[in-house]
Amino acid sequence: MTKKLIKEESNKKSDTKERKGKIKGESTKITGQLTPSEIVKELDKYIIGQDNAKKSVSIALRNRWRRQQIAEEIREEILPNNIIMIGPTGVGKTEIARRLSRLSNAPFIKVEASKYTEVGYVGRDVESMIRELSDLSVNMIKQNKTKEVEGKAQENADERILDILIPPVKKRATASEAVKTQGKTELGFNISNDDKKDNNEANLKTREKFKKLVKSGKLDERVIELDLSSENFPMLQVLGPIGLEEMGLNLQDMFGNMVPKKSKKKKLTIAEARKVLSHEESQKLIDMDRVIQEALDKVQNSGIVFIDEIDKISSKDSKSSSGVDVSREGVQRDLLPIIEGSTVITKYGPVKTDHILFIASGAFHISKPSDLIPELQGRFPIRVELNSLNEQDFYKILTQPENALIKQYKALLESENVELIFDDESIKEVAKIAAEVNEQVENIGARRLHTILTTLLEDILFEVPDKQKKRKIFINKKLVNNKLSTIVKNRDLSRYIL
Ligand SMILES: Nc1ncnc2c1ncn2[C@@H]1O[C@H](COP(=O)(O)OP(=O)(O)OP(=O)(O)O)[C@@H](O)[C@H]1O
Ligand SMILES: [Mg+2]
Repeated sequence: MTKKLIKEESNKKSDTKERKGKIKGESTKITGQLTPSEIVKELDKYIIGQDNAKKSVSIALRNRWRRQQIAEEIREEILPNNIIMIGPTGVGKTEIARRLSRLSNAPFIKVEASKYTEVGYVGRDVESMIRELSDLSVNMIKQNKTKEVEGKAQENADERILDILIPPVKKRATASEAVKTQGKTELGFNISNDDKKDNNEANLKTREKFKKLVKSGKLDERVIELDLSSENFPMLQVLGPIGLEEMGLNLQDMFGNMVPKKSKKKKLTIAEARKVLSHEESQKLIDMDRVIQEALDKVQNSGIVFIDEIDKISSKDSKSSSGVDVSREGVQRDLLPIIEGSTVITKYGPVKTDHILFIASGAFHISKPSDLIPELQGRFPIRVELNSLNEQDFYKILTQPENALIKQYKALLESENVELIFDDESIKEVAKIAAEVNEQVENIGARRLHTILTTLLEDILFEVPDKQKKRKIFINKKLVNNKLSTIVKNRDLSRYIL
């Protein structure tokens, strides 16, 4: 059934092509901005070493943009630059992909290959990764648009709050009626003037006055009664059985329109009301059709799917149970069309996967990339190996990246007005211990630094601020050894603690 749908959709596609052509230039600009060397420079801010991997991803990202610039006939001939990153655990594979997506401002998801099952079996089919990516993209664009209309939405919300405080004089209402409405206002505001025109003017004046008050926040604590449309009630969210989503259906969309929009009266403070109403108003101001169009465009032109644990679906490591084997190969086969370029039906419409960048990653301890089915190997023409990290790398990882662990802990303690100072020797010692434990117990790469630092700093983090009153805390080599050496020396202990 899905096949048929895809065919129909691809027929329909031809008429959307022109429209797409127009938007294309605009949406590729983001990824096109950075040259390969600029991309590497950005990655260098967060990831130590792994130069080959950085180079490969930077070329792949730029090549996608290049491919989109050239004439269609040749474009179809050029294979996408999908990458397999091979390397032990904790050396930066995922981190590189994640940073890449941030700096290209692209929709990015990380999926585990081992979570998928072959079509026809119970479980997630591989197409769902494209649906998730589309959801993500729609949310990204929606957030951007919400920010764009924020000011206007706020304005409208204030206006609605004002309508409740001082209802505007109805055009056709008689003067006395107007006075009556006025009399009912929450503020008990009363106009004794029964001349219609004066009444109107007075109303406007009062509104102006209250507008200022509302805006200034002076009335924030005041409670008003609001008519809220049902969209604001989360309980109306319909959770469909798993599987419907897989078919690209959205229950909420289907039933949301069938159920008449109910509104409900609710008492809120003005501050709360402003939040609720600005949300409601911003939803009104956003053109969802455009959001979806832009989001799909973004997914198709700059989406990145990171497939982790790709080695877990290669056949070699499961020779014992042939049943599992079949299913794993099935997943690989299911992946083929998506990676090669096909159309996946999502609830927002068809998504072409031709230009989506796929980065696969795996440790490939037991199996090798050559154990993947040949067709899949062909879809990942670029292989890049990441090195395991040594003591010197650890030292740099602790200190250099913009999000370096030591910087993170310093920032944490700064919130308590405590300055944490590591001398250089102490950092070298931490790096040395990390390398040692990795060698002796299990190599978990840079993740070891996390466990070691938390063990090292645990007492300090616990004692600040009440037991530990010092403004400056110095960490030196001696302290590092005091805290860690017994654990490091005892293999069993370090297995559990570090
Ligand atoms: N080369 C590196 N430079 C800086 N930080 C790194 C580096 N390698 C790993 N890290 C840090 O170590 C942690 C784990 O790295 P990451 O998630 O990239 O591992 P991985 O290679 O994907 O491992 P796995 O195969 O287990 O998924 C992250 O917090 C990351 O910041
Ligand atoms: Mg990873």
